[in-house]
Amino acid sequence: MTILVTGGAGFIGSNFVRHVLETKPDSRVINLDRLTYAGNLDNLRDISHQWEGERYFFIRGDIADHSLVMSVFEDGEVPKPRVVVNFAAESHVDRSIVDSTPFIDTNVKGAQVLLDVARKYGVELFIHISTDEVYGSLPLGDGRFREGDPLLPNSPYSASKAASDLLCRAYYRTHGFPVIVTRCCNNYGPFQFPEKLIPLMILNALKGEPLPIYGRGKNVREWIHVVDHCRAIGFLLDKGEPGEVYNIGTGEEEANIDMVRSILRHVSHLSGKPLKDLESLVTFVKDRPGHDLRYALDTAKLRDLGWHPALSLEEGLKETVSWYLRHKDWWDRVRSGAYKEFYEDWYGKRLGGDP
Ligand code: NAD
Ligand code: DAU
Repeated sequence: MTILVTGGAGFIGSNFVRHVLETKPDSRVINLDRLTYAGNLDNLRDISHQWEGERYFFIRGDIADHSLVMSVFEDGEVPKPRVVVNFAAESHVDRSIVDSTPFIDTNVKGAQVLLDVARKYGVELFIHISTDEVYGSLPLGDGRFREGDPLLPNSPYSASKAASDLLCRAYYRTHGFPVIVTRCCNNYGPFQFPEKLIPLMILNALKGEPLPIYGRGKNVREWIHVVDHCRAIGFLLDKGEPGEVYNIGTGEEEANIDMVRSILRHVSHLSGKPLKDLESLVTFVKDRPGHDLRYALDTAKLRDLGWHPALSLEEGLKETVSWYLRHKDWWDRVRSGAYKEFYEDWYGKRLGGDP
């Protein structure tokens, strides 16, 4: 089986490429990635070293570039993909508030081009990686989103993801094209770009920098270790039904402030830094506009097929903090580039005392 993975140099995509090559011995992967600020070939150095040219192929390119995507299917140098898993996206909500243009270009137009070309070349299964954010926000309490719930996105990011989910639905209904849409909760784990809450807090704590928490930190997220997310997608490659949507989650919810306190506990334990010093870095800052209060998923559909997460949040978080402590070379390189510019732009005023 040859799988075209788009966005395979990003956080979840690179974990998925590794997961597939390690767990499906008859598989080959073509990784199509534009290498935006979030794409990093360092994430796959071990993989390209071991398998490049045999089971792993990398192509740099934009999923919204029609002729480039066509050429992937016609390239005599790489095997023909029978399956597509689309991770490629602009993924950060804060950036979509600053400028939504790349979100529409990649998340909407890119998805349309991929669907179109994959259909033309008779792809047998297309898995579109979406997000719980397309459902909108829940009040605090017990409710959970189910797959049939209406899409009510609130950020330009989630609106662009909802648009691509609907394109997938339309390609299935109109053309009978075999598409599965997955909607996962918040991921954490190795190789996550440090603009996202968990790696940002780990690295700022290690560096003794302020820990910016939006509003009062009461917003709630459901968390999954990235390897569990990858396992769920691998499971759906075999067991998923075309035309269906699957929520992927763990049921492990946490208010942001509690999550940050757990992170600090692990950082203190593993680094020896006094917990009190770390906690003094917590800084409540001006809220994110349109900030969704709570996400939570009903995952009965996936669990009924036989899938369950393997890692608890407590174990996964400890392992993740430990990974960042052991991979300073990786995040030093990441933090030295375009990261700095966005950080100063977005957090500058917030940390300047405008809560
Ligand atoms: P990421 O930002 O770490 O990686 C995105 C990757 O896509 C990068 O390698 C980037 O170079 C590539 N890319 C961007 N635009 C491209 C284009 N036009 N053509 C080709 N490649 C392009 O993102 P992530 O956190 O790994 O998320 C991956 C997918 O999972 C996204 O679709 C996201 O919406 C979805 N998702 C993420 C989470 C999460 O918590 N991170 C949760 C649910 C769903
Ligand atoms: O729910 C799935 C989504 O999770 C994915 O679709 C997105 O690609 C991914 O980025 C993530 O979106 P969030 O907006 O939930 O993730 P983020 O890490 O940006 O923020 C998590 C929570 O922490 C959110 O409530 C905002 C808050 N936060 C975040 C940052 C970066 C802070 O309080 N301070 C911060 O500096």
